[in-house]
Amino acid sequence: MSSSYAPPSRKQNPHLPFGDQRTAPWYGKDILSVRQFNRNDLEYVFGVAHEMREMVERVGTFDLLKGKILANVFYEPSTRTSASFTAAMERLGGSVIPINEVRYSSVAKGESLPDTIRSLECYADVVVLRHPEVGASALAADYAKKPIINAGDGVGEHPTQALLDLFTISEELGRIDGLTVTMVGDLKHGRTVHSLARLLSLFQVRLNYVAPDILRMPKEIIGELEERAMPQEEHELLDKVIGDTDVLYVTRVQKERFQDPANYDKVQGSYTITSDVMKRAKDRMIVMHPLPRVGEISMDVDPDPRAAYFRQMEYGLYVRMALLAMVLGKA
Ligand code: NCD
Repeated sequence: MSSSYAPPSRKQNPHLPFGDQRTAPWYGKDILSVRQFNRNDLEYVFGVAHEMREMVERVGTFDLLKGKILANVFYEPSTRTSASFTAAMERLGGSVIPINEVRYSSVAKGESLPDTIRSLECYADVVVLRHPEVGASALAADYAKKPIINAGDGVGEHPTQALLDLFTISEELGRIDGLTVTMVGDLKHGRTVHSLARLLSLFQVRLNYVAPDILRMPKEIIGELEERAMPQEEHELLDKVIGDTDVLYVTRVQKERFQDPANYDKVQGSYTITSDVMKRAKDRMIVMHPLPRVGEISMDVDPDPRAAYFRQMEYGLYVRMALLAMVLGKA
């Protein structure tokens, strides 16, 4: 955890209902960056996620957040993040205001983000926000009284994805310390890898970055991790590192973030994980992807037991249930 980063303070009035809220450590907090989490916090989140999984398997839906409302506000496309937050809230007995198409909301009339957020929080207890600009969630949190959960702020961060990614690694491989994680693809624009690399720096992990020259991991992130003595290597060829990799984290080339479409065409398809590539990987390792994929992992890899990307989504449901329960003072 960076020492300069002050975690957001509790926002909600402790005199509001629910006697147990005041002692819940995450009650009323925003989730804006993975920098808010230390190893103890992660253990706590994963512990709650396990309980959520057990409850979903036993009873499906239960009433922990009955009466609570989530505003799910997406200024950028989403399938999994939006649907999993909706599923998470509904499995906890709460309900959801979906604002998926901001062009049909007052945003299309020119309303500012602070105004949209201050309006929605009149109706909701928590706001999940995805926005194309870095820092949008932090800005929203400055204005909001209710907790804001960052569901992706441009090329910035995607903290809930990184939490579910780490939970996936820990569940699938039984540990995090000692692993070699190879991130491949668009490391420049991929907010999921920005958040995950930061989170992994809390562990004894070796990181490999495999990317075309114009899509390398940003220098600021490499520098930030260097300060924590994190072993990091950059490569252009996957072949060099595939044999030593425990977690292969594949990402999509983020077409929508390119200024010049010609550059996209140059790098799209630079790395494709096929069953042939998988022959050079360890027997016990996993392939992850935040999805959507657009050709980076060929479908012939899907039946391979090491392909964890669909299981990863299910882990995401439990982690997001845990986070909602935490910020609403119920975990
Ligand atoms: C990612 C995102 O939106 O950053 N998707 C997701 O949340 N599962 C990755 C991507 O869009 O490539």
